[in-house]
Amino acid sequence: MPHTQYPAETLEKIKLLQEKFKASGQDLSSYLEGLLYADYLTYWDYINLDTLLSLQQPKTSFKDEKIFIIYHQITELYFKLIIWEMEQIAEQEDIKAAFFKERLERVIMYFDHLISSFTVMWKGMEKDQFLKFRMSLLPSSGFQSAQFRVIEILSTPVQNLVHLEERMDFSGQESVQELFDNLYWQFGATELATGEKTLTLKNFEKKYGKELKELIVNYKDNNLWGKYRQCKDVDQELTDLMKSMDLKANVFWPLAHYKSAVRYLQRNPEDIAATGGTNWQKYLPPRFQKVVFYPELWTEEEKDNWGKGWVVKEIFGQEEI
Ligand code: HEM
Repeated sequence: MPHTQYPAETLEKIKLLQEKFKASGQDLSSYLEGLLYADYLTYWDYINLDTLLSLQQPKTSFKDEKIFIIYHQITELYFKLIIWEMEQIAEQEDIKAAFFKERLERVIMYFDHLISSFTVMWKGMEKDQFLKFRMSLLPSSGFQSAQFRVIEILSTPVQNLVHLEERMDFSGQESVQELFDNLYWQFGATELATGEKTLTLKNFEKKYGKELKELIVNYKDNNLWGKYRQCKDVDQELTDLMKSMDLKANVFWPLAHYKSAVRYLQRNPEDIAATGGTNWQKYLPPRFQKVVFYPELWTEEEKDNWGKGWVVKEIFGQEEI
């Protein structure tokens, strides 16, 4: 068939392909032959659906355990999306406010999804089933979510993650080991009586400790706060987005999560022990840890009241606890 019968745009595409393959020393005709034999892409292959749907493996026969697994997986995927955006902010050499804001808006949107969907946990499982199947999951805990720690490290100078009582004494110039040993969550999973780390924490550190310490070093200057300071056209809108992200990550998500712990684990006068072994009532509420990614953006009063008010109203439905 004479080539003049082909539409001009097809010939143009072939020409472009020829140039592309020639540039890397490849033969177009061989690739065209490959195209001839290749199967059509399917939806299920593209998103690895069979693999994805094979990853929900309960440890017990309680029906609601599947909900627990799937919702954790959904959360981890959202965490992955959040980290993906943060990495892109960190990689920008000469970051512009417009780019920064667009990415931060996505991060905030993902947190909003996570905060509102937490109802799947606190409303969506039978308490009796939960209290039984959780015993088969010891000593694992969401506390061991490495992506949650990655989000923290990528968000703020690491000294802001030091345990509240020591935070004022840290400048960020300490060795990475010293900083790491004093992170707030290290204290959350230490047995008060003996000072021993819980098995949940020991296992976590064994698997992720090295990686997290490397991340602390690599993101010393390129965490979100560092990029905010480097950005030359910061405006009020960007500042407000930083504050919004701080609240979503450190108050609203932790409170939505805490609400689940209260729903399932609170049994006055004695509380049910957490799977990770923390004193969860003193550990989980944001007003105790007071993790603030961007302390410079808040007033002293706002920081003093971090996490208060909302917790009382939303979780306990009363003015005081
Ligand atoms: C019924 C649902 C849930 C309950 C009762 C619950 C309970 C707890 C408790 C008691 C802790 C304190 C650590 C421990 O002693 O284990 C904790 C920590 C944690 N959980 Fe959950 N959790 C639930 C769902 C989730 C989900 C869906 C995620 C999503 C990944 C998650 C992620 C975390 C994280 C990241 C921490 C550490 C928080 C921090 O260090 O500030 N949890 N959880």
